[in-house]
Amino acid sequence: MTSQLVYLNGEYIPLNEAKVSVLDRGFIFGDGIYEVIPAFGGKTLRFEHHMQRLQNSLDAVRISNPLSNAQWQAIIDKLITATGPQDQYIYLHITRGVASRDHRFPDNAEPTVFVMSNVLHAVDPELLEKGISAVTLDDIRWQYCNIKAIALLPNILLRQQAVDRDAAEAILIRDGNMTEGTASNIFIVSNGIIKTPPKDNKLLPGITRDLVVELANTHKIPIEEVTISEKEFLSADEIWLTSSTKDVLPITQINDKHVGNGKPGPVWQDMYQKYQDYKEILRKTSN
Ligand code: PDD
Repeated sequence: MTSQLVYLNGEYIPLNEAKVSVLDRGFIFGDGIYEVIPAFGGKTLRFEHHMQRLQNSLDAVRISNPLSNAQWQAIIDKLITATGPQDQYIYLHITRGVASRDHRFPDNAEPTVFVMSNVLHAVDPELLEKGISAVTLDDIRWQYCNIKAIALLPNILLRQQAVDRDAAEAILIRDGNMTEGTASNIFIVSNGIIKTPPKDNKLLPGITRDLVVELANTHKIPIEEVTISEKEFLSADEIWLTSSTKDVLPITQINDKHVGNGKPGPVWQDMYQKYQDYKEILRKTSN
């Protein structure tokens, strides 16, 4: 544990001094929500979009937002500055607060608020060259996957099953259709068309996902937000994952079989470049 500066309940303190009560409902019940926001050149990527998703998660679990967007921004800016000039990802966590253990909502608990920023290392160039491997697994999660809930036990168990099979990600199948990864959204390319599942309660509305959809539309690259069956998924020409910490990453092996010719595809290469260009523009904009 380091002494990096973090924010906890109104205070800026070293990480190794940040403590919460064992009665915090985040600890006891996993009763809270979170956000992960990447920052490039000191500037958060799509701050407003992340704040909107945070608000949606809070509304869905009935915790009132303890801070205004300007206050969130000020905390994040301070932590980015304290962490240094590197690219970073900000982790932001809100629980229903501290109360005696009882499932019903407490009457007077104050939400617990925790924010930290860590260095975001660029994706290993070898992964970009070779792609990563993934496995498909049954989506055993709950029915509110659109909420960015801190209770991630199903995602953790699924990811570990992938790791146990030497794969980097598990891609989830529900009712015969592909939903998303354990910590990523998924795109396929099929007959030259990019496809990703539509946003609903079965997946997290990824900010990176939305940006990729927007970039495709801006550049008039064919893209569809449609249901993708397991069969279509497994026979795709290209598969990618997206997340705030992994950018747009090619998946070249599924269940030990090659995706397409087993190499990152041309449509991915093009989108990856467009995503990098977008980040570069953000890096160069003044605060
Ligand atoms: N996870 N789906 C799930 C289940 C996720 O946990 C994530 C991100 C995404 C991608 O969302 P975004 O593009 O907004 O990062 C999709 C973060 C990075 C995490 O839990 O660390």
